[in-house]
Amino acid sequence: MDGKYVPIAEARIPITDWGFLRSDVTYDAVHVWRGSFFRLEDHLARFGRSVAALRMDTGHGPEATKEILHECVRLSGLRDALVEMGCTRGTGPPGSRDPREFTNRFFAFAVPFVWIAKPEKQLEGLHLTISTVRRIPPESVDPKVKNFHWGDLIRGLYDAYQRGGETAVLVDQAGNVTEGPGFNVFMVRGGRVSTPARGILEGITRLTVIELCAEAGIPLEETLVHADALRGADEVFLSSTAGGILPVTTVDGKSLGDGAPGPLTMRLRELYWSKKEAGWHGTLVEYH
Ligand SMILES: Cc1ncc(COP(=O)(O)O)c(C=O)c1O
Repeated sequence: MDGKYVPIAEARIPITDWGFLRSDVTYDAVHVWRGSFFRLEDHLARFGRSVAALRMDTGHGPEATKEILHECVRLSGLRDALVEMGCTRGTGPPGSRDPREFTNRFFAFAVPFVWIAKPEKQLEGLHLTISTVRRIPPESVDPKVKNFHWGDLIRGLYDAYQRGGETAVLVDQAGNVTEGPGFNVFMVRGGRVSTPARGILEGITRLTVIELCAEAGIPLEETLVHADALRGADEVFLSSTAGGILPVTTVDGKSLGDGAPGPLTMRLRELYWSKKEAGWHGTLVEYH
């Protein structure tokens, strides 16, 4: 924070920072697994695009950012970590409401790895609800710029809990599936994988699934996925830095297939973990 490494509990931003007051902030979240960053360059590139789209300046180039992230992990000593980098609009001169006059604030931190669903739960599968809450349209807030506009996603979560679900996916105005709180969505029908093409953050784990399918010769399409198609899918799974490939076994309370995590989902999940542990897309952390 502000050029210093501090214990996470001491990391603070001023209450007047527009990152807090206006959700005027972008960030990225990469993970370290067994002492190795996964797809660090891809996360840095996405973060760079997000910062540029918001007309911000972190004051650090990609190499310096990379070194800061390494140092956060080294200082934490964590072998499995969630590592975030972010940039807020920051604070401006007294009384100013002109974002061009603000000094942006860069931050980065490492915390223990976070799971959307623990591995034990992944073997059972998740209960997904298709929320009645609509995702903020991409014309209003660009979902490709990773952001804190989670009002719709959090409403979606409460909507899901009320209806007996564990997590939610939000649809757009036309009823097409977008994404959920921290994940992208995939479905399998007749051996073919599809995932929403628009209205989403282009997840790095989503990209990983696309690559895994290409390598394994599994047909995959980035397209429109209507909520009804998701309800009628053979298999559904989620993808996220926070947990990898997460099987879904019910949609809106109805079981998919035989009610167990699907075979194609489990094959991709197995590939994801085994290839990662073998160093695929990895950057080793040099611990002290
Ligand atoms: C809204 C949203 N969609 C999708 C994702 C998944 O992206 P990634 O695979 O890069 O973690 C995230 C990750 O936090 C997210 O916040």
